[in-house]
Amino acid sequence: MSLIAVGSAKGSPGATTVALTLAAVWPRRALLAELDPTGSDLLYRLRGVDRAPLSADSGVLGYVAGGAADGGGDPLAHSEQVGAGLDILVGPPPARVGEVAGSWGVLADRLAAAPALDVLADCGRLHPGSPALEVLTRAAAVVFVTRPTIDGVAHLLARAAELAGVLAEGTMLHAIVVTDVRDARSQREIDQLAERADLPLEVLGRLAVDPEAVGLLGGAWSGRLEKSLLIRSARELAGKLDKVLPVPEL
Ligand SMILES: Nc1ncnc2c1ncn2[C@@H]1O[C@H](COP(=O)(O)OP(=O)(O)OP(=O)(O)O)[C@@H](O)[C@H]1O
Ligand SMILES: [Mg+2]
Repeated sequence: MSLIAVGSAKGSPGATTVALTLAAVWPRRALLAELDPTGSDLLYRLRGVDRAPLSADSGVLGYVAGGAADGGGDPLAHSEQVGAGLDILVGPPPARVGEVAGSWGVLADRLAAAPALDVLADCGRLHPGSPALEVLTRAAAVVFVTRPTIDGVAHLLARAAELAGVLAEGTMLHAIVVTDVRDARSQREIDQLAERADLPLEVLGRLAVDPEAVGLLGGAWSGRLEKSLLIRSARELAGKLDKVLPVPEL
């Protein structure tokens, strides 16, 4: 079904956290695929439902290796479950990303073709020189995550301009601002700056800064997490993102 690419323009604004929370509350069956060319983060952040560490050998590495053998294959056969049953295709550890070199495009094609499954892909830092460009060119939506800082927003606008130049004409870029739940202003300001620069970039909304809830993401999915500002804001964002997705061709 749909492949949605999520990443950052600068620093570590919370792209992995956005991808993880969106996938966890997605309105349909979703898979979180860790396609960050600098290597996995979730291997070190999450545990399986049985509290066992995630396995680097399955995930993206297993899916890539199994490609030729199973003629496309089901990504869920290589994924692991965390939290409230969220499926994760964990990325390669940083020392093993070389094993995926040259396979990003094929990987993205296979994920985009997965039936009855939307894939949220954490693509790390987004720029035209990234190996993940192969994923971005195949995505139904590209979502930048930013903090509302002057330099963060300047990088966002610069990367959006660069990507708009290399992605297919008409590709809409989206932004999610990780900020205080009471901050409505920075979203409007970023939208205005993008409009003034004539960029195809639209702010979807904000993910609440909520360190306590982020800390809970590594454990079992609790009622406390469900009611947190983090997850409530993620739900709102997931609904908005789902609405702007192009209808997949059958
Ligand atoms: N909504 C949030 N509320 C509070 N803390 C957050 C939030 N999102 C991210 N963080 C914190 O910010 C740091 C970076 O988050 P994350 O790893 O998601 O960012 P990233 O953009 O994927 O970074 P990287 O460039 O390392 O991949 C982490 O310590 C995380 O706990
Ligand atoms: Mg990350």
